[in-house]
Amino acid sequence: MVTLRAVDAQNFDEIVNLKRESVQYVGRPEYVLAEAYVYRDDSTAYGIYSGDTPVGLVIIRDRPEEGYPYSFTGLFIADDYQRRGLGLAAVEAIMNKFRADGLRDSVEIQVNQSNIPAIKIYRRCGFLEIRRAGWNPDFIVMRAEV
Ligand SMILES: CC(C)(COP(=O)(O)OP(=O)(O)OC[C@H]1O[C@@H](n2cnc3c(N)ncnc32)[C@H](O)[C@@H]1OP(=O)(O)O)[C@@H](O)C(=O)NCCC(=O)NCCS
Repeated sequence: MVTLRAVDAQNFDEIVNLKRESVQYVGRPEYVLAEAYVYRDDSTAYGIYSGDTPVGLVIIRDRPEEGYPYSFTGLFIADDYQRRGLGLAAVEAIMNKFRADGLRDSVEIQVNQSNIPAIKIYRRCGFLEIRRAGWNPDFIVMRAEV
């Protein structure tokens, strides 16, 4: 079972040491954790766990400002755990968290148009491509209802 656990003093070491050789699409764990810290007013870093094993990381915008949808960014599954269905299960867990929180009725994310595995996962979780990102046309904005 895949679950999300907020990164705190208890699990910081196991999350920052997740193996990630490539920085394609998302940076190393320390970068993602730094980004979550900078945006801590509305976002939280969550470790992705398969049972009690840490397998990935994501930043969830779980306290969006009024008028903004939920979002998440910096999602990765560590090198040794990819291609086992954990990325899909992680996005399902994120969507379930949003449903349980019930603050907003949609989720918007941005994904590089060349990131085929990620786009496949998002489509399976109900995301539709709604527009190109204004800041970079290589990125697609995808939206799902919660
Ligand atoms: C995208 C990512 C999270 C997917 O995690 P994962 O656990 O490997 O994904 P899953 O095992 O759930 O696979 C989902 C689908 O993508 C496919 N897939 C996963 N990695 C792939 C790869 N490298 N090449 C081709 N297809 C791939 C799987 O085969 C599966 O499709 P299928 O069910 O039709 O076989 C992971 O590859 C990753 O961390 N990538 C780097 C960071 C990144 O791109 N994050 C997303 C930013 S928007």
